[in-house]
Amino acid sequence: MRLAITRPDDFHLHLRDGDMLAAVVGHSARRFARAIIMPNLRPAVTTLAQAEAYRQRILSGLPPETDFQPLMTLYLTGNTSAQEIARTAQSQVVCAVKYYPAGATTNSDAGVRDLSQVYPVIEVMEKYDLPLLMHGEVNDPQVDIFDREAVFIERHLLPLLARFPRLRVVLEHITTLDAVDFVRGAPARVAATITAHHLLLNRNALFQGGIRPHRFCAPILKRENHRRALLAAATSGDPHFFLGTDSAPHRRADKESDCGCAGIYTAHAAIELYAEAFEQVGRLDQLEAFASFHGAHFYRLPRNTGRIVLERKPWTVPESYLLADNSRCKPLRSGEVVRWSLEDD
Ligand code: DOR
Ligand code: ZN
Repeated sequence: MRLAITRPDDFHLHLRDGDMLAAVVGHSARRFARAIIMPNLRPAVTTLAQAEAYRQRILSGLPPETDFQPLMTLYLTGNTSAQEIARTAQSQVVCAVKYYPAGATTNSDAGVRDLSQVYPVIEVMEKYDLPLLMHGEVNDPQVDIFDREAVFIERHLLPLLARFPRLRVVLEHITTLDAVDFVRGAPARVAATITAHHLLLNRNALFQGGIRPHRFCAPILKRENHRRALLAAATSGDPHFFLGTDSAPHRRADKESDCGCAGIYTAHAAIELYAEAFEQVGRLDQLEAFASFHGAHFYRLPRNTGRIVLERKPWTVPESYLLADNSRCKPLRSGEVVRWSLEDD
């Protein structure tokens, strides 16, 4: 069986920098026309000039004859100035601003400690219609790790949306029934990305036969009823929901460690994994809208004109991918089968 769809976009992607960027960017460029690039480098991408320079490094790292377009973001900190946001809003390079609660995930120590402190900057974003992309979890040790998304919605997202009635917000990588229900009922200025791994795995996968560090991500995998709610949302045709892989490569040693990093690498098989998930519920007919139309509409981008062809032909994922510095990154399904393949262009 073959499935041809408009070339998709990845609305949430970690490409990293340097050696790692060089090793991973080809995977995304082969599948996607554009991607929203996360700014959680060290140091974080906090200014327009840094975003422009990072974009150039990505473009120079691309394999020849690809026309992949990186859509850049700025990292919101307690020190982000209203002037920088105003400048950024007028640039063609930066499409959005990313909010990380300080300490919630990889390279988030520069994140925001108190959301209300950055309200003056958010006001400028609302004025210039620059979307705010939110890592929607509280980082409160009193709150159970499985409840942090639901508590974020109540404690921070609801007041934010009430305070800024025209601000456009993407709740990134949603993982719960609570987030699905909230976003489904929200106005069109609120949207959500959904990863392939949250569509395919529930929290049992973290402990299948032992502890599985390569399945650890933030927000953490949830119960099966939440996975089912995400799958129903992604395949429903509702334009609030669109594709964002959150593909997050790490060196193997940094994940298989006493304090392993959060992040799952999926760029090597991203659209193929989404096809598997959609096939599970008999909704392959909805893959194109979710992967290629809804996100472009939200970001006010033209739809891509090219196409990709998926084929229902199983292939075995390599055990690991070599990073240029001789370390390795272990991808999702390492050494195992993915049911769908991408036909060559
Ligand atoms: O699992 C994750 N990894 N979640 C994030 O929010 C960040 C990402 C990373 O940068 O590794
Ligand atoms: Zn991410």
